[in-house]
Amino acid sequence: MIEISTPMKVHDKEFEVFINYQDILDNIKSMAYQINEDYQGRSPLFIGVLNGVFMFAADLMKEITVPSEISFIKLASYQDLASTGQVKELIGLKEDLSGKDVIIMEDIVDTGETMHHLWQQLKALEPRSVEIATLLLKVDVFKKDIPLKYVGFKIPEKFVIGYGLDYNGHGRNLKDIYQIKE
Ligand code: IMP
Repeated sequence: MIEISTPMKVHDKEFEVFINYQDILDNIKSMAYQINEDYQGRSPLFIGVLNGVFMFAADLMKEITVPSEISFIKLASYQDLASTGQVKELIGLKEDLSGKDVIIMEDIVDTGETMHHLWQQLKALEPRSVEIATLLLKVDVFKKDIPLKYVGFKIPEKFVIGYGLDYNGHGRNLKDIYQIKE
C-alpha cells in the first residue's frame, strides 16, 4: 500500500513524514537487543538528555531487560564570556557515577559538539564506562572523535522534527519523525 503523507505545517515551515513510528519502534527494539546482550551481568545507569529524548527514552527502556536505573539531565546553554562558543552546562545529575556503567541516551547527534562536551563532563565523574545511544545521527555533519556505540538511524543533513524533536518549541509531540519539505 502506498502511504501518502499530508504535509505538516509547524511555524513557517512545511514538513513531511520521514521515518514512521513503526520503523522507529523496530529500530529501537534492535538497539535494545544489542544493549541487553552487551550488558549481561551488569546493571547500567541510563542517562537521558532532556527535552528531546523523552519519547526515545520511554520506548527504549520498555525493551531493556537487564537490571537498570534511569535518570535525566538537562543541558543549559549560556555564553561563556571567555570564549566565543556556546557552553552547555550539565544540570540535574544527582547520582554518584563512580564505578557505574553509564549509557547516555540522546535523540539526535548533529555536529557532535553537544555530546562531546557532555561525554567529557561525565567521564570526569569517573564512571566505570560511558557509552552513547542516539536515535539519530547526521552522519555527514558529525565531526567529533567520540564513540557512538548505539546509533538508530544515520540520516542526511536535513532538519527533522517529531518524536521528541522540536522546531522552536513545537513538534515534539508528533509520533513520526518529519523532515523539512524541499
Ligand atoms: P550538535 O551539538 O550539533 O550535535 O547538536 C545537537 C543538538 O542540536 C540536539 O541535541 C538537538 O537539540 C539539536 N538539533 C540538531 N539537529 C536537529 C534537528 O534536525 N532537529 C531538531 N533539533 C536538532
